[in-house]
Amino acid sequence: MEYVIVFIILISTLNNCQSRLQNGTKCDFNNQCICVMEQFLFYVDCTNGNITNTSIFPSNTNVLILQSNNIMHLLDRSFENLSNLLELDLSNNKLLKIDSEAFIGLSNLKELSLGGNELNFTVNSFHINALAPLKSLTILNITYQTISDILSDKMILNLHALQSLETDIISNTDGQAFGKGYSSLKQLRQLKAGKCQMELVNNNTFSNLPYLEFVELSKCRIVQFGNGCIFCHLKNFRYLDLSKTVCENNNFRSLVSDFKRTKIRKIKMTRTFFTSAFPPFHLFGDLANSGITELYINKNSFVMAHDTVTDTIPNTLQVLDLSDNMLVQVSYSMLTLRTLNLRNNDLGKVLAKGGYKRYGTIKLQNVDLSNNGIHSLLFIVFEGHSYLETLNLSDNALSDFSPDVSVMIRLKVLDLSKKNKKIFTTQYHAKYFKNC
Ligand SMILES: *[C@@H]1O[C@H](CO)[C@@H](O)[C@H](O)[C@H]1NC(C)=O
Ligand SMILES: *[C@@H]1O[C@H](CO)[C@@H](O)[C@H](O)[C@H]1NC(C)=O
Ligand SMILES: *[C@@H]1O[C@H](CO)[C@@H](O)[C@H](O)[C@H]1NC(C)=O
Ligand SMILES: *[C@@H]1O[C@H](CO)[C@@H](O)[C@H](O)[C@H]1NC(C)=O
Ligand SMILES: *[C@@H]1O[C@H](CO)[C@@H](O)[C@H](O)[C@H]1NC(C)=O
Ligand SMILES: *[C@@H]1O[C@H](CO)[C@@H](O)[C@H](O)[C@H]1NC(C)=O
Ligand SMILES: *[C@@H]1O[C@H](CO)[C@@H](O)[C@H](O)[C@H]1NC(C)=O
Ligand SMILES: *[C@@H]1O[C@H](CO)[C@@H](O)[C@H](O)[C@H]1NC(C)=O
Repeated sequence: MEYVIVFIILISTLNNCQSRLQNGTKCDFNNQCICVMEQFLFYVDCTNGNITNTSIFPSNTNVLILQSNNIMHLLDRSFENLSNLLELDLSNNKLLKIDSEAFIGLSNLKELSLGGNELNFTVNSFHINALAPLKSLTILNITYQTISDILSDKMILNLHALQSLETDIISNTDGQAFGKGYSSLKQLRQLKAGKCQMELVNNNTFSNLPYLEFVELSKCRIVQFGNGCIFCHLKNFRYLDLSKTVCENNNFRSLVSDFKRTKIRKIKMTRTFFTSAFPPFHLFGDLANSGITELYINKNSFVMAHDTVTDTIPNTLQVLDLSDNMLVQVSYSMLTLRTLNLRNNDLGKVLAKGGYKRYGTIKLQNVDLSNNGIHSLLFIVFEGHSYLETLNLSDNALSDFSPDVSVMIRLKVLDLSKKNKKIFTTQYHAKYFKNC
């Protein structure tokens, strides 16, 4: 059989920050800092610079990185001459106190990070007007302070341009978290939790954030989800990340039934379920009219996934990730699905007897069945797979497998490699199969 072996080369891409530093030189005003002019922007990076005050930076600075220094107190007018500043990173300092006029002059600032400090949001720590001058701010990160709390709504009233807020979250037993004033942030699309402890997540929790599109509650500890509307009053709500979220009562049922009334497109619940043998009850049925396109429920403890428990796959779903579970059975009709990831499960036995597909046509383009203890496969497993482009069967126990690829006229990559061997990809020429 004619095939070409393609070696996969892993290219580790440098992040922007590192590459910038490579081209930079020590700043003349402080030799702990690196200065670089790039694409008409003047960057000053003083990461780990042992800096305790902010009185030294040139007024043409556009991006100022003061990550991991020893700044404890931001005095009035700390940045008053930096009107060109677009990004200010004060994360991982020892900030205890920010004075009322500390940010005066930063009317063009777009991005501010205060993450990893010791602010406590009391009058003595964070002046109520401190953020008021930041009229252009679009991204604010204020996560991982010693006390988990949310900026009071009086502190954020002037941030009319804010699009993304990353904050520690705490909610009381009424489910309330964000004060009324938050509803004036009409551009706020993205909410991401840092430290996060919520007693109850219910219709109150996000009611003052009606414009949210992306909600990331990963690693939150949630005692309980309330019945009724949780996200359904958010008109733009499209994306939810609950990865590693711990729900103490393991009651995701009311959350999932709330999906019925949303237009959610993408859900990530990676490492969210530790004790549940099935995906959340009626998950797919409750998503049927949402328009969902991508669902990641990988790295959980699921043993079986089939339509008796979850209902049928929503007819808008394109990507379903069930990898790294303990699945011994998967059985769906998958009329519209493009990508099915079943990597690292225990499907060997069931695939020796039949397939994962129930009735109906199939449009799958990518299937990953690697590491499933597969010894043998019946031809019917791949019946109708005429759109398949990538098939991963690596790390299985297949000794002599020649798939019936005649039906897979679009197949580009078939991975049959085994553990402890150099991983290679076997690339079949589509032309070759068309000719046979
Ligand atoms: C470094 O500077 C050189 C010359 O100015 C430029 O070609 C290159 O793209 C820069 N590299 C990075 C990573 O910015
Ligand atoms: C940091 O600065 C203090 C004084 O401001 C000095 O005593 C100390 O040696 C400096 N540490 C380093 C690593 O430069
Ligand atoms: C600010 O820091 C610089 C060096 O980091 C030091 O020389 C200067 O005395 C400090 N100024 C104040 C007001 O602490
Ligand atoms: C800002 O510039 C003014 C005028 O040049 C100067 O008096 C003032 O000390 C500067 N402020 C800071 C914090 O550097
Ligand atoms: C926000 O700040 C925290 C603490 O410094 C950091 O771990 C996190 O990566 C930041 N978020 C983003 C998106 O950079
Ligand atoms: C909050 O921070 C301020 C300034 O560091 C401090 O004086 C105050 O005791 C702190 N309050 C609490 C409740 O931690
Ligand atoms: C939340 O639900 C309760 C009871 O169902 C209702 O009384 C309350 O008005 C709702 N709150 C919001 C913000 O919709
Ligand atoms: C197939 O899956 C294995 C591990 O499960 C992975 O390492 C490999 O990169 C995958 N092959 C392709 C072509 O994606």
